[in-house]
Amino acid sequence: MKTRVNFILNNKSIDVEINPAVVLLDFIRNERLKGTKEGCKEGDCGACTVLIGELTNDEVLYRSVNSCLVPVGNVSGKHIVTIEGLNQGDLFLNPLQKAFVEEGATQCGFCTPGFIISLTGYFLNLANKNSGGVIESLDGNICRCTGHNSIIRAAQKVSDKIISENKNLSPEILTELKVIPEYFLTVRGRLQKISQTGSESITDSKSYSCFVGGGTDLFVQRPDEMMNSQIKLLHNDKSLYGIDIKEGYCFIGSNTSVSDLRESEIFKRYFPEFHGFMELFGSTPIRNNATVGGNLNNASPIGDMTIFFLSLNSVVTLTDGVSERDVFLKNYYLSYKKTDRHKNEYMKCLKFNLPEGNYFYNFEKVSKRTYLDIASVNSSVFLKTENNTITEIYLSAGGVSAIPLFLNKTCEFLTGIELTVESLNEAVSIAQKEISPISDARGSEEYKRLLLTRLIYAHFLVLFPEIFKTEDTYERL
Ligand SMILES: Cc1cc2nc3c(=O)[nH]c(=O)nc-3n(C[C@H](O)[C@H](O)[C@H](O)COP(=O)(O)OP(=O)(O)OC[C@H]3O[C@@H](n4cnc5c(N)ncnc54)[C@H](O)[C@@H]3O)c2cc1C
Ligand code: FES
Ligand code: FES
Repeated sequence: MKTRVNFILNNKSIDVEINPAVVLLDFIRNERLKGTKEGCKEGDCGACTVLIGELTNDEVLYRSVNSCLVPVGNVSGKHIVTIEGLNQGDLFLNPLQKAFVEEGATQCGFCTPGFIISLTGYFLNLANKNSGGVIESLDGNICRCTGHNSIIRAAQKVSDKIISENKNLSPEILTELKVIPEYFLTVRGRLQKISQTGSESITDSKSYSCFVGGGTDLFVQRPDEMMNSQIKLLHNDKSLYGIDIKEGYCFIGSNTSVSDLRESEIFKRYFPEFHGFMELFGSTPIRNNATVGGNLNNASPIGDMTIFFLSLNSVVTLTDGVSERDVFLKNYYLSYKKTDRHKNEYMKCLKFNLPEGNYFYNFEKVSKRTYLDIASVNSSVFLKTENNTITEIYLSAGGVSAIPLFLNKTCEFLTGIELTVESLNEAVSIAQKEISPISDARGSEEYKRLLLTRLIYAHFLVLFPEIFKTEDTYERL
């Protein structure tokens, strides 16, 4: 299978016929750009980090991604920046590189290009007023020999200097500061001219054996199979993106990324805590690439977005390109990794009722490491109350069953119940009967049972501190 891919690699225009499942990392290194390193090839180490620049509202929005997990078919119409694309003369070090040298933040150098690229992405995003903290921007990069303290020092130092001396960062100022080369200023116009594959909707979904979102699951699990399959890159269908409000519902296109959701004004307004919850999802480059549809359809029992959207009682819309049907997310999962999606269907979007009135929500996740790890057990809750009585509640739990679980019976019990320690204890007992965890690498059955109990208490301790105290929940330990 071959497709035409047209993009800018550093300062060079690329127009090739290629198997779209070749990962960007392999393509780049075949172009003799060996600064981008291959480490784990699973999205964990960040040695392969590159920037992808995309025209968004007429500006180029740059995001870091793990090039080992990006199918090259997904980069049409974009600007790819590798470490070589930051060069400004043979022996010239830009301010970020200089800070790394001055703070002793590089030793063997294998990880360094990835760190410098992530940092560059941070400053470019800052210019677009769309960034978290400088240290957070490095959460997808691992160094195996220098030790992270010197790297953190270098990043903080250069960030403090650039930000204190430049109140309004822009791509123009970043070129003056020599953080990026001048050709960056030509990229917007060049991207506008590139004949993009554009909005290519799916006409015959039957002819594809696999739909690809961001690829962060597929290219870890089945990269070779992808090379030999008739894959459909959903990336090129613009109708699968975006977050909208219509007639009291929030609609989320299935190919919307986790980062897009975290940064969406709608989510900031209705779910201000969501940004923090999803800090526990992968790393910055993973979140930049991972899609909602990929998370829901991977059907992992511990998918973080899946667990969150189950607790909003969401509905998913499936289509074969001709007709559409809606399914409640809580009914979508049939058995381990099996969904109600027919072979020729793909997920178009997800929707849920926009909350109003006195509503509360919370998400909890426990994993072996706090960051860059999938959950051992996760759980999410959404509820409404009147006079301390629950009028509506949706509670979900991951890692405690073969499927992402909606805790039906626990919710039935809690509806109409006054918020008291006794009612919460009873709810926890009911939840224990609804789950069927197994012992595996992430913990024993008993441990996962205990975790879910603690996470349910945690929801109520966080949301209603005036009613529930930590010591009230001790007897369940
Ligand atoms: C290092 C690393 C860390 C991670 N950390 C987390 C984490 O903390 N929490 C978490 O939940 N996940 C995590 N993941 C898993 C993964 O990133 C997520 O599941 C992500 O949301 C998958 O989205 P994607 O677009 O990349 O999926 P893809 O790999 O493109 O697809 C995944 C599956 O969904 C199907 N699919 C995709 N889109 C559609 C659609 N629209 N309709 C029908 N089927 C579709 C594909 O065919 C495939 O079966 C991590 C992955 C990595 C590599
Ligand atoms: S090679 Fe390790 S994240 Fe890509
Ligand atoms: S400097 Fe050697 S891995 Fe980071």
